[in-house]
Amino acid sequence: MSAAIAVLISGRGRNLQAIARACADGRVDGRIVVVVSNRVEADGLRYARQQGIETTVLSHRDYPDRESYDRALMAVLDRHAPDVVALAGFMRILTPPFVAHYRGRLLNIHPSLLPRHPGLDTHRRALVAGDVEHGATVHFVTEQLDGGPAIIQGKLNVHAQDTEATLAERVMNEIELKIYPQALAWLARGDVALDDGAVRFRGRHLDAPLGLDALEAAFR
Ligand code: GAR
Repeated sequence: MSAAIAVLISGRGRNLQAIARACADGRVDGRIVVVVSNRVEADGLRYARQQGIETTVLSHRDYPDRESYDRALMAVLDRHAPDVVALAGFMRILTPPFVAHYRGRLLNIHPSLLPRHPGLDTHRRALVAGDVEHGATVHFVTEQLDGGPAIIQGKLNVHAQDTEATLAERVMNEIELKIYPQALAWLARGDVALDDGAVRFRGRHLDAPLGLDALEAAFR
């Protein structure tokens, strides 16, 4: 049975598009059962609707606190019985009950080489820090913000002429749009799992995230 994937967005939805394409062409043995956005103006919603994917807007402004928002979000998601919940530019911190509820099936993509630069403005911070390498990471979500066990991490060299915008663009196109569909393909296939707080990949625990060299040909 193909995996039921729920995708959570707040913005443009380029990762959502890459995931949707990978499901449509069979690289991910899954289907997107719902896209939820906390922002009504998120461009990714329009894309999802064009594709005939069910969408829900759940504005955080309609809830008094994180706990009540996350309870409502869980109720929406669970109506679709997701096997996987993929955070794809969902710009909200999730409460521990939410994270616990989806443990092992909750993934996030973060635009940095975690554990470097958790949080916001990662590209600017990489430039300010003079990092020679930068990238993006797909990880299981745990209670620790941007801190869960990493599955795959793609790196690129920072160029002397890079700006925040060029770096963001290269990280998106060269890394994010490849590693997220790949990680989801592995999860849907059962190649990867969260096991005792660590990532198990094809039967062994990873002591470091996989890299771009682990991408299968279809995801390069
Ligand atoms: C992506 O770069 C993603 O890694 C980042 O937001 C962007 C969403 O773009 N996520 C975070 O910063 C999470 N802390 P998209 O909506 O076009 O996929």
